[in-house]
Amino acid sequence: MARMGRTPKTAGPDWGALLGWYRANRREMPWRGAADPYAVWVSETMLQQTRVETVRGYFDRFLARFPTVEALAAADLADVLKLWEGLGYYSRARHLHEAARLVAARGRLPATSAEWAELPGVGPYTAAAIASICSGEPAPVVDGNVVRVAMRLRAAPGDGRDARTRAEIAAWLRPAIEASGAPGDFNQAAMELGETLCAPKAPRCLLCPLRPACRAAAEGDPSAYPARRAAAPLPERRFAAFVARRGGGVLLVRRPEEGLLGGLWELPMAPVARRPGPAGARRALAAAGLRAEALREAGEVEHVFSHFRQRLYVWLAEDGAPAEPGRPGAPAFVRPDDVAVATATRRALALAVGASGPSGRRKRPR
Ligand code: ADE
Ligand code: SF4
Repeated sequence: MARMGRTPKTAGPDWGALLGWYRANRREMPWRGAADPYAVWVSETMLQQTRVETVRGYFDRFLARFPTVEALAAADLADVLKLWEGLGYYSRARHLHEAARLVAARGRLPATSAEWAELPGVGPYTAAAIASICSGEPAPVVDGNVVRVAMRLRAAPGDGRDARTRAEIAAWLRPAIEASGAPGDFNQAAMELGETLCAPKAPRCLLCPLRPACRAAAEGDPSAYPARRAAAPLPERRFAAFVARRGGGVLLVRRPEEGLLGGLWELPMAPVARRPGPAGARRALAAAGLRAEALREAGEVEHVFSHFRQRLYVWLAEDGAPAEPGRPGAPAFVRPDDVAVATATRRALALAVGASGPSGRRKRPR
């Protein structure tokens, strides 16, 4: 008799246990609770490609400065990029700003995931996350974390990146989300399980609410799912970059608004095949549109983008100046704290302060 009510072994995951786990263990996040759709939209945009712990501080500063969609719509893109500085994937900030203007002009926020997905920068999983959290729409979020959980639960072959697999996972989750009565919590529970216990490496299955039905855990090596293709090594792009200071300013160039690091400021630089010596640095200086009295090597910095590695060979350019000051797009002296600066340039500037000799940040001998 005691056995009669038991679920048979072939039953699917116990989604109720997932919700219970989430409600007992969810991490405090500044955007949870209020369900202000604008705040959720900003947070979900920041959370694309970026971990929760990194997002917190950025989110708080962003909402303090732009508390409403109208405030964001009225802002200058340069100020929006400044608050995004260091978070990466800057097209997210440009699209968010552009979308805020569309929403403010229309006078209302989107109401459904389909409407959210029409906005620039809002892809299907961000749209599903916002609509499920803010309006209880049972739209499954199928981000990388959820894909991993879903593939492990069913010991599914493949790497999970293809659209067919994602659509199939969405179809598998949809009835469970509908039955849950709490689509926002369901989606966030699945994402959070994937970010925490069901991590890419060394998942902590002993703590997992879904373990009884998990086929990958039963097989004994859950981190084998999803199958990983060996990643090709990233190509390296090398540049000689020049630090020229005058007063509190540094010569910087603003990148075109479209494309990588769009609208951000960076050091003037020119591509080089390898680490340049003094003669190579001179040639690169001219190619970067500068002239200078003397060049001094300051060191190297490396920054990893999604598709390449960037290496900067940093040189101090004494009395450096634009070779053709009037030319549009020529470098200009700006205060780095006043503008949004690319992370590699930030690091190069820190390096240059250390390399700048007695007038720099040297401790005085006692
Ligand atoms: N990753 C992206 N959005 C998230 C959310 N709302 N909760 C937890 N993890 C997330
Ligand atoms: Fe992931 Fe392990 Fe939970 Fe399966 S049991 S969903 S592999 S954490």
